[in-house]
Amino acid sequence: MRLLRIDASLRTEGSVSRALADAAEAAWRAAAPDAEVVRRDLGGAPLPPVWPAAAFAGRMPPAARTSEQRVGAALAAALVDELLCADAVLLAAPLYNFGVPQQVKHWVDLVICDPRANDVNVPLLPGRPGLIVVARGGGYGPGTPRDGWDHSTPYLQRILGDVWGLELTTVAAELTAASYDPAMAHLAAAAAAQFDAARSAAQEAMAAAAAGVRRAA
Ligand SMILES: Cc1cc2nc3c(=O)[nH]c(=O)nc-3n(C[C@H](O)[C@H](O)[C@H](O)COP(=O)(O)O)c2cc1C
Repeated sequence: MRLLRIDASLRTEGSVSRALADAAEAAWRAAAPDAEVVRRDLGGAPLPPVWPAAAFAGRMPPAARTSEQRVGAALAAALVDELLCADAVLLAAPLYNFGVPQQVKHWVDLVICDPRANDVNVPLLPGRPGLIVVARGGGYGPGTPRDGWDHSTPYLQRILGDVWGLELTTVAAELTAASYDPAMAHLAAAAAAQFDAARSAAQEAMAAAAAGVRRAA
């Protein structure tokens, strides 16, 4: 049994998405002590910028590819192999500038360069469990002024769920900026409550994922 954990926060200290992923990973390990956890830190160790070359590699006969295209295609294949070797996927993603972190977008774009991952009708990871944990500095709930401004979470759900076929759970902690923005200090208690709820939901989802994978094994 193998969990692939992917982090994207630029922060290693004080990161809410990493803390939620830590809790989820711990729940996976508790439910499956013999399981392996493979980590990819897109925020701390961004992938090399090979996507522009990789994007065109698939349109060239292999013998005609440039060395850059070969390098890009090889990295795309390695990322797809990494996904295919995982029984479950955990992605921890902050909201940056109302969108997906560029390192995550780059990872998605590279994965989709590989022919195994670019057919929506033949999903890469059908039925495998996936958990997206999201950290947002502000509040985006129904009826708030920023309702609908999170363009990251729906995109990630579209790719990981609809395109790659993961059975997705999404968990979000909002108002995280209350810990560093004095203008949001009055929201600290609400942020803490949201974090606690998100942590519990992430742990529950990951424990259920481990149990499901074990049953299917
Ligand atoms: C470059 C940058 C852009 C951000 N943009 C947004 C944003 O558009 N909306 C928002 O609610 N929070 C935004 N934030 C706040 C982060 O979403 C928040 O701090 C979150 O907790 C980051 O995840 P982390 O705690 O795992 O590092 C931004 C933070 C940074 C560093």
